[in-house]
Amino acid sequence: MFGRKKSVPQIDKEQLELIENAQKRIKQKKKLYIHFVIFLIGSVFLILFNLGLGFGKDFKPLETHWFVFAILFWLFLFLYHAFNVFITYKFMGKEWETQQLNKLVAKQKARIEKLIKSLPSDEALIEKAQASVAINSEKKKQELTIIVAASDNDAIGKHNKLIWHISDDLKRFKSFTNGHHIIMGRKTFESFPKPLPNRTHVVITRNLNYQVPEGVILVNSLEDAIKACSQDSQPFIIGGGEIYKQAILIADKIEITRVHESFEADTFFPKIDPAVWKETANVFHEKSDKNDYSYSFLTYERR
Ligand SMILES: NC(=O)c1ccc[n+]([C@@H]2O[C@H](COP(=O)([O-])OP(=O)(O)OC[C@H]3O[C@@H](n4cnc5c(N)ncnc54)[C@H](OP(=O)(O)O)[C@@H]3O)[C@@H](O)[C@H]2O)c1
Repeated sequence: MFGRKKSVPQIDKEQLELIENAQKRIKQKKKLYIHFVIFLIGSVFLILFNLGLGFGKDFKPLETHWFVFAILFWLFLFLYHAFNVFITYKFMGKEWETQQLNKLVAKQKARIEKLIKSLPSDEALIEKAQASVAINSEKKKQELTIIVAASDNDAIGKHNKLIWHISDDLKRFKSFTNGHHIIMGRKTFESFPKPLPNRTHVVITRNLNYQVPEGVILVNSLEDAIKACSQDSQPFIIGGGEIYKQAILIADKIEITRVHESFEADTFFPKIDPAVWKETANVFHEKSDKNDYSYSFLTYERR
């Protein structure tokens, strides 16, 4: 229990080899440096021997003091030494470099093989792509569109009535929704004097005994309302506040008439988040005899 712990090597073989080579390299450079210092001191001594002490004073090959040849010869030896250190044994030797390169290539090959194995097969990828195309085309079949008129402060109604009269907005509503399913909350349905012509009304209520005229579809949730429109390529959510709040989370498009005024109201349109919705059309209209306020026709599409 209290016996000596067996020392576990902290570095692997390759690291050890690297350290040894680095140490060898440092030694080589140190030796070269010492050689250089000795060469400098030695040269001074040779000059002193020859000129100062007169040693071999009469020996002058090619009319030159012998110390010049001695220093030149030593310089040649020093340069040869430096050549060996910096050129011949460049870094850790050619063989060592090739060895390291081969090791690296082998490691990369193993890694690539592992990656290839972890990738899904071609068949799986094709299956996945086909499934996503099928889902998208199914979704594309239907463009769930919110249609609304809201003021600058998002007001849409008061006392279960619209607040303003903008004739062009009513025309726009008619031309968009003509021939389509229109989905609405029970309260909005009750705000109409009678069902609108040439449109299929889908009314949402929690009241299972609610009575509607013939031709009007009654459902108990927004999901069921959308299901009831499965044959329509563009069903419209026409309000009111409660239904817009739920539908904005799943709709594909918003056609909004923005009335440029602020109103007191009891029902509001939810905020349009620019991170979710992209404005794709914006046409401004001045107020006129037929339209009490200036307004803009805007289109938003889900990003
Ligand atoms: N400016 C515009 O473009 C515009 C358009 C439409 C309406 N409006 C205005 O909006 C106001 C009406 O809006 P509102 O919010 O009061 O009422 P609403 O949304 O028209 O209807 C609310 C009703 O829908 C039913 N409902 C809502 N969510 C449901 C769910 N998940 N499942 C089942 N039933 C559900 C409930 O009916 P039950 O109570 O029967 O269960 C609820 O009381 C009016 O002032 C109208 O004029 C304005």
